[in-house]
Amino acid sequence: MLRNNHFCWLLSYQLLLLTLILTGIEAVEVDRKEDFYIVFLKDNPANEESAFQRHIDVLSSLKGRDATESHVYSYTKIFNAFAAKLSQYEVHKLSSMDEVASVIPNRYRKLHTTRSWEFIGLPATAKRRLKGESNIIVGVFDTGVTPQSKSFKDDGLGPPPAKWKGSCHHFANFSGCNNKLIGARYFKLDKVPDPNDIMSPIDVHGHGTHTSSTLAGSMVPDASLFGLARGTARGAVPSARVAMYKVCWATSGCSDIDILAAFEAAIIDGVDIISISIGGLTGGYTTDVISVGAFHAMRKGILTVASAGNDGPNLNTVANHAPWVLTVAASGIDREFRSKVLLGNGRTVSGIGVNAFDPKQKLYPLAMGVDIAKSSDTRESSRYCSEGSMDPRKVKGKLVYCQLGSWGVDSVVKELGGIGTIIESDQFLDSAPIFMAPATIVNSSIGKSMNSYMHSDRLPSAVIYKSQEVKIKAPFIASFSSRGPNPGTKHLLKPDIAAPGIDILASYTPMKSLTGLKGDTQYSEFTLMSGTSMSCPHVGGAAAYVKSFHPDWSPSAIKSAIMTTARSMSSKVDREAEFAYGAGQVNPMKARSPGLVYDMDDMGYIQFLCHEGYNSSSVSSLLRQQVNCSTLIPATGEDAINYPTMQLGLKSDQEPTIGIFRRRVTNVGQAKSVYNATIRAPKGVDITVQPMTLSFTRPMQKRSFKVVVKAKPLSNAIILSGSLTWKSSRHIVRSPIVIYDPKVFD
Ligand SMILES: *[C@@H]1O[C@H](CO)[C@@H](O)[C@H](O)[C@H]1NC(C)=O
Ligand SMILES: *[C@@H]1O[C@H](CO)[C@@H](O)[C@H](O)[C@H]1NC(C)=O
Ligand SMILES: *[C@@H]1O[C@H](CO)[C@@H](O)[C@H](O)[C@H]1NC(C)=O
Ligand SMILES: *[C@@H]1O[C@H](CO)[C@@H](O)[C@H](O)[C@H]1NC(C)=O
Ligand SMILES: *[C@@H]1O[C@H](CO)[C@@H](O)[C@H](O)[C@H]1NC(C)=O
Repeated sequence: MLRNNHFCWLLSYQLLLLTLILTGIEAVEVDRKEDFYIVFLKDNPANEESAFQRHIDVLSSLKGRDATESHVYSYTKIFNAFAAKLSQYEVHKLSSMDEVASVIPNRYRKLHTTRSWEFIGLPATAKRRLKGESNIIVGVFDTGVTPQSKSFKDDGLGPPPAKWKGSCHHFANFSGCNNKLIGARYFKLDKVPDPNDIMSPIDVHGHGTHTSSTLAGSMVPDASLFGLARGTARGAVPSARVAMYKVCWATSGCSDIDILAAFEAAIIDGVDIISISIGGLTGGYTTDVISVGAFHAMRKGILTVASAGNDGPNLNTVANHAPWVLTVAASGIDREFRSKVLLGNGRTVSGIGVNAFDPKQKLYPLAMGVDIAKSSDTRESSRYCSEGSMDPRKVKGKLVYCQLGSWGVDSVVKELGGIGTIIESDQFLDSAPIFMAPATIVNSSIGKSMNSYMHSDRLPSAVIYKSQEVKIKAPFIASFSSRGPNPGTKHLLKPDIAAPGIDILASYTPMKSLTGLKGDTQYSEFTLMSGTSMSCPHVGGAAAYVKSFHPDWSPSAIKSAIMTTARSMSSKVDREAEFAYGAGQVNPMKARSPGLVYDMDDMGYIQFLCHEGYNSSSVSSLLRQQVNCSTLIPATGEDAINYPTMQLGLKSDQEPTIGIFRRRVTNVGQAKSVYNATIRAPKGVDITVQPMTLSFTRPMQKRSFKVVVKAKPLSNAIILSGSLTWKSSRHIVRSPIVIYDPKVFD
């Protein structure tokens, strides 16, 4: 059932969702049933001890003496919240208490897997500021880490930076840390034992080892997967330090109570960047734990980079879309892994996937799953070669042709004594799954011609060759990468940025075979994975790289630098345009020196939330202090935020919509500089900027301008793309401006 790891998480998440729905129904009947909740309080306690006491008091007032039994965890250092096991009735009572800001159900989320750095233009020879870089600590929230991996060798690195307050120990099956991997912790607050995992920061899954080595792995020459994707494996910032916060578990996925605890730990430990390849926004910006955690991280100067999700190409699916989070889509690089299939009639067709096996025979007999069903009852499922559907005697020694129903049919066919599998699918064709036996995926037009061959030849035969690397046109956005528009607000373009996320080679765990499938005997230090999980650490790495040059820049400044310097991508390749790629492909070297930044502090984001209609009490719960939206200076303009991109939602089907965007840029380039505006407006849209020229005489000087966008109702496009670019003699600062009709997505 499992394929690449992100699909595996996807599947387990859906199962979980199902059980959640089921338990929800049960809860109506049996009110005693308790679930985990996170309760955020309003007040700002004097210290951790009084916060903890307050949590127990609140719980006691509800439960009497049972309080300590249902109390699970207190978040007292950064947040004022606790996790507890509560019944529906108790949740109801708590929600109405004065001191309670919000009560949110604990949810289980899914994880969203060397040449990629060269491809986006950060070669190993790129200018680096090694001293700055070795002071950078990246916090990764994931499935754990493999400490003995070559990517975490600490050659040449001194002791951790003095600001580091985190910890690492020997744990079960975990040999401890070094000067590269400086922190490792795990969070499993529900205490439900996981039979497929180990209570330790060790990575039995491979995902966390992969993401953290992509972000900041040391250089490992001659890395490959069975000779494929050969090259030097490395992170963006090979001298930066890594701290792993294991919050994702093999069976249960990643739970909110653990993620919140990891945020608190990472912020206190002193990380500089947080990279989180975990899915979902399950509440508003003030109740989703990744959004809340990232907000507090931002207040402490830490940028959170998160994956946009793997729910594309459907629109309106982008996750992790809070304005203070840098949301990353997945793009493809210029290579693909393909296998040739030779048919008995001499024709050759091409399939996708990583097949590490050289054939031993010239040709093998070929059968279609649907023709070798065990019985007439299993005929339908044998079309998909499902487990138990085929007659083993007719599989033995053959290649079997199957339609894609679920992942893992390579293992099913192999177990029955088959030689290999040719899978037909028109989906998932842009990333290469790894197979445990000879296999490849062909599209339905190839499938058609194979079908006619198989039915015209009395003894059809074929052979699948070992996969090879093939050059393809790039970049483009992965079909699986989640698309905008932003389901959270019509005023914010998401995703923000794109980075490679297809067939990325990085370190892997020795504790799992490459596919995790029954019968797989393939193990490798490095493997290929695809997903926005893989693109996220590329941008986390870019952020760490920028921060190594500018340790004092705010998270918003780093985010702006990365967005305004992105390489623009083409709506000719990706029809959904900015809804697919945001500002474009990340360009770390340019992000180091953006010229101007759109900076913001926490109050700027609060003004935005007030403008969005979040009420005072929910905004206060973010800040741990009372905020009254109606007494704040209201932010002005269409979107009330100083964001590096602009998005206008049309308001009428008849009349033109006018949006006025107010922005302020800070000069981080040469003291004396002049920027001229260049506008690109799509057909039917008027865009003007005032003033057209911005002059600066000193560093950190700020200049304001306004952009007026006047757009007619759209005829049939889902998105119109324009841009504003500020150009000086040295810098290009580009902001996409998009127009769409929100009503289409209601
Ligand atoms: C973990 O360590 C224990 C005790 O040393 C050992 O028995 C077990 O096999 C190890 N597990 C894995 C998956 O390596
Ligand atoms: C099917 O795959 C072949 C080989 O990669 C390709 O040439 C062809 O365009 C594909 N057909 C469709 C409909 O995608
Ligand atoms: C504030 O908003 C939250 C979330 O939408 C809601 O539950 C709460 O009742 C609101 N509070 C007030 C005082 O309106
Ligand atoms: C916020 O301020 C307004 C205007 O000063 C006042 O009427 C309102 O009661 C205040 N709300 C809260 C929750 O303090
Ligand atoms: C900006 O515009 C002014 C006036 O049109 C021109 O003199 C100047 O060269 C321009 N600067 C740049 C960097 O394009």
